[in-house]
Amino acid sequence: LNPHVKDIVHQFDYTDTDVNNAVKEFLRQMAEGLERDGTSLSQIPTYVTAVPNGTEKGLYMAVDLGGTNFRVCSIKLNGDGSFYLTSSKVEIPKELMVAKTAQELFAFLARQIALFLEKHHTDRFEAHVRRRMTASSPLGFRDESVFRMGFTFSFPVRQVGVNRGTLIRWTKGFDIPDAVGKDVCALLQAEIDKLHLPVKITALVNDTVGTLMARSYSAPGKHGAVLGAIFGTGTNGAYVEQLSKVKKPLVGDYDASTGLMVINTEWGSFDNELSVLPNTPWDIALDKLTPNPGLQMYEKRVSGMFLGEVMRQVLLDILKNPNIPLFKDVDSRSNDWTSVTEVRETSPIFQPWGIDTKSLSVAAGDNMPPLPLLRGELESLDINSPSFEDAQVFKAIAEAIVRRAARLSAVAIAAIVLQTGKLTDPDLADEPVDIGVDGSLVEHYPCFTDMIYEALRAVDGIGEEGAKRIRIGIAKDGSGVGAALIALVAGRMETANE
Ligand code: BG6
Ligand code: GLC
Repeated sequence: LNPHVKDIVHQFDYTDTDVNNAVKEFLRQMAEGLERDGTSLSQIPTYVTAVPNGTEKGLYMAVDLGGTNFRVCSIKLNGDGSFYLTSSKVEIPKELMVAKTAQELFAFLARQIALFLEKHHTDRFEAHVRRRMTASSPLGFRDESVFRMGFTFSFPVRQVGVNRGTLIRWTKGFDIPDAVGKDVCALLQAEIDKLHLPVKITALVNDTVGTLMARSYSAPGKHGAVLGAIFGTGTNGAYVEQLSKVKKPLVGDYDASTGLMVINTEWGSFDNELSVLPNTPWDIALDKLTPNPGLQMYEKRVSGMFLGEVMRQVLLDILKNPNIPLFKDVDSRSNDWTSVTEVRETSPIFQPWGIDTKSLSVAAGDNMPPLPLLRGELESLDINSPSFEDAQVFKAIAEAIVRRAARLSAVAIAAIVLQTGKLTDPDLADEPVDIGVDGSLVEHYPCFTDMIYEALRAVDGIGEEGAKRIRIGIAKDGSGVGAALIALVAGRMETANE
């Protein structure tokens, strides 16, 4: 590799010492977030005080507003750790992510729920519509035709009860200021009610909490999973904390008998102060392009929405650098103009957010010289006749960016494993420490989890032996199932109170 390229690659190094320092800082910021509000790591109490054990049963609905898609599902929990899921998925229209009013977004969501019910639960839907046309009493939880629904809302919410919570801030490119500070459950329920749908939202859940619940339902150990984490468009984790360590006031009702509380860390905003996070010129350029500069600084170095953009920022710099012959025709003997290597003006490299993290996955997945798959991918970025050398440069930088992301991901995982004390608990000596994960990055990027393990082995207090006991497993579509599980528990409480 050209020494100038090597130099760029090295700027993405994150050494074992860096990892260890960051783990210590993560633990410090976790403790701070449990003490008071307004800290970098929000450490939001979720009012969920137990994880499932696999015996839960029933038919529930869940909707899931992630960073890219909106999913509607119904879930039949079989009571033996298995479930049957029916679901539909639409991409969230870009214009709704920055709509003028929250009502526009939530009305769209309610329409998707109506379409789903009409298609997949026709009998219940029609019977309900008929009954509602003649009924005078308001809809109650005892109404047999009503679905209890869990709402997975993958943004930071100040939760004030299991089905109530106000939006703290938008992340992942969403920006609808009018929604900030409002109860997102009430906003969605209002739109559902306008369409007279047989649905009551009984739980409001972050996607990480859903993932934690789903993992505990389907892969239960002695004490269920300790952490649910997302490495997708955004990144975040929720873990099971000792209630006694939650020092800030708890405002909602909850069952204190388990002595536990699930905490949504909102680790995307870990170390916004950049005391331990790396900060290259390309990270700085990316931050300036976002609607929330200075916030979600960890997420901007780790998750799928941002890694392609870091890559693009590096490429823009290289194209200006005469010392690195990237995407330039170095073989002037060629008379065949179709083989001239060049970046066309129309290339997404020149458009903000033009490079998807998927291209980085292709780079990592192609290991066979002369890198035909990656060169095909580069052609799809409007680069004419990319050479083997071009592809090597792209691959080296892409892998450096994602390797740094994986090592940073290990920081959060390691800190939470250490915080829970599971590795040193003599009662759990033979038990795995189970972690459920979901999201496009961990699911599709080759060897992302292996790179996490490599960094975990280097963490003081974990090491080779500890890393062997940490079991990271995919909880596919976990948050929908998890939301249904919380709707089940919460629904029982609501019925009892009615
Ligand atoms: C999905 C979950 O599987 O993964 C969502 O159902 C979650 O709740 C999502 O937000 C995260 O992945 P991505 O890649 O879609 O952001
Ligand atoms: C962002 C959101 C967080 C969510 C994560 C993963 O970080 O703030 O709530 O869990 O993305 O989707």
